[in-house]
Amino acid sequence: MTRLAFFVALLPSLSLVFAQDLGVPTTWREFNNSRLLAERISIAKSAIDTILPQLDTSNGQFDGIGFWQSANVFSSMANFDHLASSTVYKDQVINGLTAAYKTYPNFDPNGYNDDAMWWATASYYAYRAYGDSTMLSMTVAIWTRVSNYVVSLADAKAGKQPNKDFTIAGTCYGETMAGGVFWRPTSDDTGINSITTGLYTTLSAYLAETTGDSTYTAAATLSAQWIQNLQISSSGIILDGVSGADCTRTAASWLFTYNSGKYIEGLSVLKDVTGAAIWKSLMTNITAAAVKSPVWQGSNGIITEGASKTSDNDGVGFKAIFIRGLDEVSVRSADNSALQILIHSYNDVQYNALLELAANDGCVGCDGYSDQHEFAVNLNFS
Ligand SMILES: *[C@@H]1O[C@H](CO)[C@@H](O)[C@H](O)[C@H]1NC(C)=O
Ligand SMILES: *[C@@H]1O[C@H](CO)[C@@H](O)[C@H](O)[C@H]1NC(C)=O
Repeated sequence: MTRLAFFVALLPSLSLVFAQDLGVPTTWREFNNSRLLAERISIAKSAIDTILPQLDTSNGQFDGIGFWQSANVFSSMANFDHLASSTVYKDQVINGLTAAYKTYPNFDPNGYNDDAMWWATASYYAYRAYGDSTMLSMTVAIWTRVSNYVVSLADAKAGKQPNKDFTIAGTCYGETMAGGVFWRPTSDDTGINSITTGLYTTLSAYLAETTGDSTYTAAATLSAQWIQNLQISSSGIILDGVSGADCTRTAASWLFTYNSGKYIEGLSVLKDVTGAAIWKSLMTNITAAAVKSPVWQGSNGIITEGASKTSDNDGVGFKAIFIRGLDEVSVRSADNSALQILIHSYNDVQYNALLELAANDGCVGCDGYSDQHEFAVNLNFS
């Protein structure tokens, strides 16, 4: 199939407007939660305290889970304190992130920009929770480094990227590739994906909000536009990756919760930073589509992605990113009670399922374990 034929075939599906429906499906299982705040804090704390013995304080890694997931345990701990207005985990979080930063230069031992940004994001949450300026400096250092792997408007026009040794695609499917972020720093790796670009969008938006520096706002906007133009499926959820050399897409079946979750988190911050109606509208629509997507859940609403009772896998970690993104959207949507009720109900479905149905045997990386931190910690406290 020629590029043109592919483009023509694809265009109608991408231009479909997905319907926005903020109603709570009545088929969802137990979408309410009458537990008081003190009990929810206690549940979240005991989930975190179950994994803490696995922490190697010399390098900030948790035994039994992957490098990127270890960063997300620190994110959960920092967000627990942020949401509960406490400093219970301050020392462990700051010491752990500092140890990892010293052990793994640029937070990137394996050559992945998303790995570096999972840790930079944890550092940002630590800054947000504790006001520690070293954590903010680490975040900025990683942001600056990963910025070397973004396709700029000039790169897209020239078909060249300074840190890549191949001719890059300036446009794919009729849209500019500007704003896309290469997954890996390696000069010959061509992959650009939604998680790397979504992490960069979100970090840029948080840094714009924190510093008021318009460089970050421009970066967040360009990367948000790349995902908006190229990575939204006809049903309104976020696709995975595109080759920055020949526009080949990752398998159509690669639909993961964290791509939508990270993007809506970034959009929620970007809409507050810019006040632009488009980002609020897109955030709302993708949220509505994602919490109802049949791709990762049945009609009861319980996420099935990554389910495994015996071993760790990336999918176990993905859904935690989704729930965290939903929580940020909810916190920043005081003007949309229907959206807040939808998110709260969805979180309650997951929360009750974890407490009542999931394995909870304290096995590191097992389903119902890493989930439980994230779901409990990211419960909407407001
Ligand atoms: C969101 O959905 C509504 C329809 O429900 C539509 O009018 C609007 O254009 C959509 N927004 C975006 C950014 O696609
Ligand atoms: C949900 O509401 C029902 C009816 O009020 C109640 O019986 C049930 O305990 C609630 N579930 C939770 C998890 O709070």
